[in-house]
Amino acid sequence: MSVLLEAGKQSNKTTFQGHSLQDMVSAHYDNRTLMNLEGEIHFDRYLSIDEVKVVLSSYQKFTDHEMPEVVYAPCAGTLRHVSPLLERGVRRVIAVDLSHESLAVGRERFCQGDTGQVQTYNTDIRDTDRFAQNHDIPLAFLMGNSLGDVTDSDGHLEFIEALGKPLKRGGVLVFDYMGERYNPPVGEVYDTTWPDRVIDGDIEFDVFDRRQRWSVPNADGTSTLHLTCEVTSIGGELIVPKHSYDKLVVPDPILIEQFARFGMKLHCLGPLRNYSSYHDRRIREKDDLGMMGTPDHLYVAVKE
Ligand SMILES: C[S@@+](CC[C@H](N)C(=O)[O-])C[C@H]1O[C@@H](n2cnc3c(N)ncnc32)[C@H](O)[C@@H]1O
Repeated sequence: MSVLLEAGKQSNKTTFQGHSLQDMVSAHYDNRTLMNLEGEIHFDRYLSIDEVKVVLSSYQKFTDHEMPEVVYAPCAGTLRHVSPLLERGVRRVIAVDLSHESLAVGRERFCQGDTGQVQTYNTDIRDTDRFAQNHDIPLAFLMGNSLGDVTDSDGHLEFIEALGKPLKRGGVLVFDYMGERYNPPVGEVYDTTWPDRVIDGDIEFDVFDRRQRWSVPNADGTSTLHLTCEVTSIGGELIVPKHSYDKLVVPDPILIEQFARFGMKLHCLGPLRNYSSYHDRRIREKDDLGMMGTPDHLYVAVKE
């Protein structure tokens, strides 16, 4: 097995209120305990398989091609979609993420046995020239509600531009996004605590995962969703200290205009559960996927 890893690079690009994006990634996405929560998306292989099915069938619908040779995976996180993509016949995946730990866990967990088909880059997707110089990729795959981590408006526009840059003409980006549908009413804080289980090799223990969220409108019609996260043991011992992370929330009409600005036609396809029987069943049975639940919608952007 050989997986290419480019050396990590610090990103100084900032998000809302001057927080560095890298600080947010270090506090939240680099945290191995959070990745090892049983209820999180990383453990759910059938979720990833089903999402790959949805993305590939959207690709077929919008391009009339069967299977892309190469898939670009911006914000690939723990690489949970890589094995299902290779199993479906994709030959090469270019995976990019700012979180060094997510990529490291992903390579340990999901890339055993691959034969050099996965290239991972620990960098900001806006540094496109480091991993995709030819702009010839047919499919970009961005699932898991990964849009919106760059919360300042200029940075967000750079992010949208960077999503389309590696694509060839007629190539597509398929993604999911909760949009405004996960926002609490302005002025209200939603506070949710749910039981979960940390599974880390032979070590397993029950925990409480507490998340708070509130929405602050921006002057340009977008809003910023602020979230906090804290994990404690059942006895109250702190396992993951309280930290915050933000998401930029862009209503569909503005998102359509932003993609158009960078030569992409955005199609908003409605609730993801209408395309994924697995999402639908999880929502009906548990309703426990947070922004991955009912608010999650499917989008396809076609590069013109
Ligand atoms: C919600 S997680 C989802 C991960 C993955 N797509 C999945 O479905 O499991 C979002 C990921 O985006 C990454 N990320 C956010 N902004 C980024 C940027 N500008 N460049 C590269 N990675 C970024 C974070 O580090 C994090 O791993």
